[in-house]
Amino acid sequence: MRLLLTTNPGLEDVAAWEAGARLGARLVEERRLHGRIIVDVGDDALELVDELRCIHRARILLSKASICGERRCLEELRGVVASSGVDEYVTPWTSFAVRAERSGQHEYTSMDVARVAGDAVIEAVRARYGRRPPVNLDHPAVIVAVDVIGDTAYVAIELSGDMSWHRRGYRVYEHPASLKPSIAAGMLYLTRIRDGESIMDPMCGGGTIPIEAGYLFEESPLVCMDINPRYIEGARMNAAAALLDRRIRFIHGDARRLKDYVGSIDYMVSNPPYGIRLGSPRLVRSLYREFIASASEVLEKRMTIITTEHRLVREEAEKHGLRIIHERTVAHGNLWARIMILEA
Ligand SMILES: C[S@@+](CC[C@H](N)C(=O)[O-])C[C@H]1O[C@@H](n2cnc3c(N)ncnc32)[C@H](O)[C@@H]1O
Repeated sequence: MRLLLTTNPGLEDVAAWEAGARLGARLVEERRLHGRIIVDVGDDALELVDELRCIHRARILLSKASICGERRCLEELRGVVASSGVDEYVTPWTSFAVRAERSGQHEYTSMDVARVAGDAVIEAVRARYGRRPPVNLDHPAVIVAVDVIGDTAYVAIELSGDMSWHRRGYRVYEHPASLKPSIAAGMLYLTRIRDGESIMDPMCGGGTIPIEAGYLFEESPLVCMDINPRYIEGARMNAAAALLDRRIRFIHGDARRLKDYVGSIDYMVSNPPYGIRLGSPRLVRSLYREFIASASEVLEKRMTIITTEHRLVREEAEKHGLRIIHERTVAHGNLWARIMILEA
């Protein structure tokens, strides 16, 4: 079976690796920064697909075709959807809805895509069964996902319902600058952590990184620290919802003085505040400078951070003998951030 998996743009290779390791998936296509990969899996893999931590959605891919951006090309899209085999999944007895996404330069909108694709599904079902299927936009039995990304159209059947899996169920407390769990999991995978060794997020906010670490590494001691006691309370609530609160040590403390709280830590994985959120460049510079100096005193192996302050991190890492062994660009909300891995 061919699946289309969506992930955070910039983490396609990590999602492909995870799908290979957990589902035995074979990679068919990976387009960097597109947030989509195509894999082939055995039928039994469907039961395991919601265990993938790096993906947002999983879909059964019915068709992938080239499509141009002019308005007349919507007719081609109609043909692609109608001949995709969608009538195997949508019948006169199953309600359906089309969810459309579009990115790139086109003369049509995602609403146009949804309308044309919806008509095409109805035509295909009517041609096969002699009756049209019921449309239910709020609670459909089957969701047909039609994405036009640049010059490519994807027609697929949604497996994850309307809720993206990156909104993991444990988020009972929402930190104002929370990280997507899929990015947290991607950062943890990239750090090449050995299960059993200690992991700390010294600026953990609502606890996303330590919680994802708890899912991925069953034996590792986990530490979640933040300077704001309200966030530590929120992180504790999220960890309790994830059934991981007993495994995580919570510290109300300052990442600029790590030696005061921990002896040594094997891996740090963190999402420090970005400059544009802190406001003043002076505050950013002093926070990063003091944090990296303090981390270099307790770090045993590797530290992975996501940041927009990559120049500053490079300068400070060099000063403290931390080697940058990996760097990549990822989408983070409406920003392009970098994941950087520093080795002690
Ligand atoms: C971008 S947020 C982290 C969000 C987190 N990854 C999540 O998913 O909820 C950055 C956090 O750094 C914390 N912080 C800022 N300065 C700090 C310091 N000196 N020591 C510890 N935490 C600090 C802030 O309170 C904030 O919660």
